[in-house]
Amino acid sequence: MATLAPLPDVAAATPPRAGVARLRGFVTNLAELVSATRNEAEILETGAKLLARLIAQDDWLPPAFAIPHPDRYQQYLLHCDSRERFSVVSFVWAPGQGTPIHDHRVWGLVGVLRGAETSERFVRQGDGSLKPDGPAQLLRAGEVEALSPRTGDIHRVGNARSDGPSISIHVYGGNIGAVERATYALDGTAKRFVSGYASTVLPNLWDRSQTP
Ligand SMILES: [Fe+2]
Repeated sequence: MATLAPLPDVAAATPPRAGVARLRGFVTNLAELVSATRNEAEILETGAKLLARLIAQDDWLPPAFAIPHPDRYQQYLLHCDSRERFSVVSFVWAPGQGTPIHDHRVWGLVGVLRGAETSERFVRQGDGSLKPDGPAQLLRAGEVEALSPRTGDIHRVGNARSDGPSISIHVYGGNIGAVERATYALDGTAKRFVSGYASTVLPNLWDRSQTP
């Protein structure tokens, strides 16, 4: 396995109340990472550390990308790499909201910024049906989970809170809103879907007049 040179600690170098500068540092570090290696295990290991550092501070997500919708969870695109090597999305869950069982087809990292998220993994059985792969996991604010299609990436996630919204930051190894993937019934029946995004605008990461 190739050894990665240390990444510049851009996110950590930004001052408190850094706002979107912290997100800008994160995407800069991720671009460095996916330029330095195509090894998925390395990307997940180092990417998880970068994401953990990003979500350790809850002072950077613009409020427009943190608004829950009463009827459905929100999937706000925060950034997509210009070569679509990765994307960063804020998932905003109102109480009771969650995804169907689904896959990703690309690597993924899930980090909870606010509140808590449940994650239930599933595995295929010999007859094609799905069964839970252990008990549901609770991801709390600050925690990160990695997903890989190579080791099984079928899961269902949702808000673990019944008394308020939760927000998690997801990072994927592609433009996830454009990836053709599938939702599943427990009997294994797959249904094609392309998720798109809930938003039509992105945070402006590049105005350096307030935070250089
Ligand atoms: Fe997912």
